[in-house]
Amino acid sequence: MNPLRPLILAAAESPRLKRALTGIPVTADIVRRFVAGETRIDLIGVARTLLASGRMVSVDFLGENTTDRNQADATVAEYLALINDLAALDRPALPGIAVPPVEVSVKLSALGQALPVDGPAIATENLRIICTKAAQADVWVTVDAEDHTTTAATLATVRALRGEFPWLGAVLQAYLHRTESDCREMAGPGSRIRLCKGAYREPPEVAFQRAGEVTDSYLRCLEVLMRGEGYPMVASHDPVPIVAAEDLAARIGRGPDRFEYQMLYGIRDAEQLRLAAAGNAVRVYVPYGSQWYGYLTRRLAERPANLAFFLRALVGKS
Ligand code: FDA
Repeated sequence: MNPLRPLILAAAESPRLKRALTGIPVTADIVRRFVAGETRIDLIGVARTLLASGRMVSVDFLGENTTDRNQADATVAEYLALINDLAALDRPALPGIAVPPVEVSVKLSALGQALPVDGPAIATENLRIICTKAAQADVWVTVDAEDHTTTAATLATVRALRGEFPWLGAVLQAYLHRTESDCREMAGPGSRIRLCKGAYREPPEVAFQRAGEVTDSYLRCLEVLMRGEGYPMVASHDPVPIVAAEDLAARIGRGPDRFEYQMLYGIRDAEQLRLAAAGNAVRVYVPYGSQWYGYLTRRLAERPANLAFFLRALVGKS
């Protein structure tokens, strides 16, 4: 983990900085690098191009930490329209890969999880509405992982809905101490787990702080998932876990139809294409919408070199 990461994530919480940065248009290069655009039309164009290149997609309608019921309802409505539009896309054949190439990713805090009264129950009900629509459209759904205070509630929602929607995926973050045990518990038949390192600022009581410790934890969790009976989703741009997944798959005899690689839109595009050309299932996580601030600051914190682009965009604006 880069040493500036906690600082950047802390600074990003300043309302003044947020006001200054959100003044940058979505068309600025740094925003466009990571975000497909503000509208569903922008998103559909990007998704079509990715699908045509032999990759699959998981689409995130940006937004988080909703404290307003109407906004949560509006997010559900946008996801229903998004699923409609994604279902209408051509799905190019991917030899040897039978899973749906189109997925949506959802943050429960955007569906009302943080509402002061009955938040988790409201988010669960909203997710059920989205999953019902997705099931009709042959679109998968995966629930994103947010900061550690939400982990238990989020996994409880996923468990509650898995009976009805066995394909419902969850994200686990390798930087959390609890995750190896969560992986053991959630590596059962059909269980779809997206394993990532984790992108939030977390205290040492709950999360590994050093990059090497996080990667080691990732590798332990990966082995549990790859040896389990579920469907692992290897979400990382780091060559170490990517090579480890390849080795484990070969040793265990897990074919490309039984796990997938996932990367974020705008990061290591050539590596995404290389993995797909080698016959692997590769899914790109593509965000869109006007609420890009939180997402973008997490991408900046992962790699200080991105900050230089961002600062240039700021200077260009003034
Ligand atoms: P690491 O950060 O070590 O990066 C490895 C290499 O990848 C870098 O050396 C660089 O080349 C490249 N790279 C990584 N980040 C970059 C960036 N921002 N810009 C440019 N290059 C970069 N997190 C979370 O907390 N909850 C979630 O739900 C998700 N969901 C999710 C879905 C998917 C599909 C992915 C790929 C990732 C997430 N994440 C996430 C983010 C994840 O936790 C993590 O912060 C990032 O993936 C970066 O970690 P890496 O494993 O890529 O390794």
